[in-house]
Amino acid sequence: MKNPSFQTAVVHPKVPVVRPTHSKATPIYQSSVFTFHSLADLESYYTGEHSYLYSRMGNPNTDELGSRVAEWEGADGGIATSSGMSAILASLLAVCKTGDHMVAARDVYGGSYHLLAEECAQFGISVSFVEGGIASFAAAIRPNTKVLYSESVTNPVLRVENLAELASLAKERGLVTIIDNTFPTPYLVRPLQVGIDISVHSATKYIGGHSDVTAGVAVANEPYLSKIRQKVVNLGANISPFEAWLAVRGSKTLALRMKQQCAVAEAVAREFSTMNEVQTVYYPSNLSPQGNGAIVTITLQEGANMPVFFEALDWIHIVPSLAGVETTVSYPTVASHRALPIAEQKKLGITETMVRISCGIEEQKDVVDQLKYAIVKSFEK
Ligand SMILES: Cc1ncc(COP(=O)(O)O)c(C=O)c1O
Repeated sequence: MKNPSFQTAVVHPKVPVVRPTHSKATPIYQSSVFTFHSLADLESYYTGEHSYLYSRMGNPNTDELGSRVAEWEGADGGIATSSGMSAILASLLAVCKTGDHMVAARDVYGGSYHLLAEECAQFGISVSFVEGGIASFAAAIRPNTKVLYSESVTNPVLRVENLAELASLAKERGLVTIIDNTFPTPYLVRPLQVGIDISVHSATKYIGGHSDVTAGVAVANEPYLSKIRQKVVNLGANISPFEAWLAVRGSKTLALRMKQQCAVAEAVAREFSTMNEVQTVYYPSNLSPQGNGAIVTITLQEGANMPVFFEALDWIHIVPSLAGVETTVSYPTVASHRALPIAEQKKLGITETMVRISCGIEEQKDVVDQLKYAIVKSFEK
């Protein structure tokens, strides 16, 4: 099929999938290792004719996940990993070595912040955190800077990074760009298409989509692709075949889910932008022609009774994650950003009345009505 739409591409991969018995679904190759009938057969692995040797180094299910995401982002290839965190770590270590420096946006996911600030320091890789935006990245570049790191849409205030500008700054200065594209997914944003070098995902979120798998993916062109693969093998950061299979299964509905989830989010953002009890609505306005994402963050007016709000949400549960098919809420001040002192939280715009809403695939009106009910309840005397 020539140039299929994204919705078709997530269902029909271009890269052939290993299905020797012509099963419609890919079998789960739940095997840690592969067998060889002769020394010549074994030799064929090293000459590239026999694809698999040992699952930490490659497995049909894990390869299927990586190659599918790579196809959607227009990359040479993709590596599936055990989690979003390991995709980020493997990507960073693929390009940085002891003595190197990175510039990173301060408002990246809390776990990524700690990975960059604490773990990378142990490898002798230093990091400067900046407010985001090109001027702040440019000002922090040093002679030993190697990497510019950010997220296509940050959390919880949903700042949209200008990826094309970041990529051209990096190219001018000979640096590598790594972008976490978890929030918009390739349905909305394809970082490599605007010059970014490496795109990473927590596939635990929208790619898997059903809150039943922890997974990561890094996609890139050469020379980065092979380097990331080597890091994943050396670090043992591979994903299990079953988890990869679950993520692939979930990913086939990525386009459908994102379409509905973005529509629900648009409705939520629109409704609350005029509601008196709501102080601020954070929602991107020009992220992509397909939509503006499925996360909306709001702050309620001062005086909202937050325990009452969360209890009144009934079927909308508090979930310290995002992106499942069910609408859920999280409370950044006590969950995702708990480790940050209040003063630091304030700098990121996080307040006691801030709620991050991960919109699901339910009927728009049901989601809006349930949230509205809880907001009104939280101000009742
Ligand atoms: C933007 C972003 N990147 C990375 C991660 C880490 O992913 P994982 O939990 O799959 O390791 C998360 C997790 O919440 C995230 O929100």
